[in-house]
Amino acid sequence: MEERNYGFSYQVYASSKELNADDAALLEKARAVTVEAYAPYSNFHVSAVALMENGAIVTGTNQENASYPVGICAERSLLASVAALHPGIRISSIAISYNSKDVVSDHPVSPCGMCRQALLEYENRLEHPIRLILAGMTGEVFIIPKADQLLPFAFTKEELKK
Ligand code: THU
Repeated sequence: MEERNYGFSYQVYASSKELNADDAALLEKARAVTVEAYAPYSNFHVSAVALMENGAIVTGTNQENASYPVGICAERSLLASVAALHPGIRISSIAISYNSKDVVSDHPVSPCGMCRQALLEYENRLEHPIRLILAGMTGEVFIIPKADQLLPFAFTKEELKK
């Protein structure tokens, strides 16, 4: 028997004031567009904003539905828009934030499992890491250098190769 370990490094900033100007601007945009979420069922308004390698900014928010499973998370709604608006262009960074009248938005939340899988697919598709900037409306900011770090033992297209 052999025991193996998984770990990864990420950066923790005490607040958005410590970020470089580009990251701070992307996070501010993410905080601002939480108002565009449609989340009447959870009241949990999530935003994901991408800085593309060509300088473009693309926004996504969660869009819920009375038939609950039909709703889509901010991250996957963002990736669909990115693929439609900027096909073949790499994503440099994505800032993810949230706001809610029911809970305090003072710490980072990280993408759900399904969104981690979708982010990983986009990294592999364009062979380029996606940096994640995670933060609430206030408080600490986490920077994850590569989205696939959030999904160890991921299932990828490599398994489907004949
Ligand atoms: N949500 C996201 O948009 N992204 C995540 O990574 C976690 C959850 C949304 C889905 C749902 O509309 C609401 O947050 C509560 O789960």
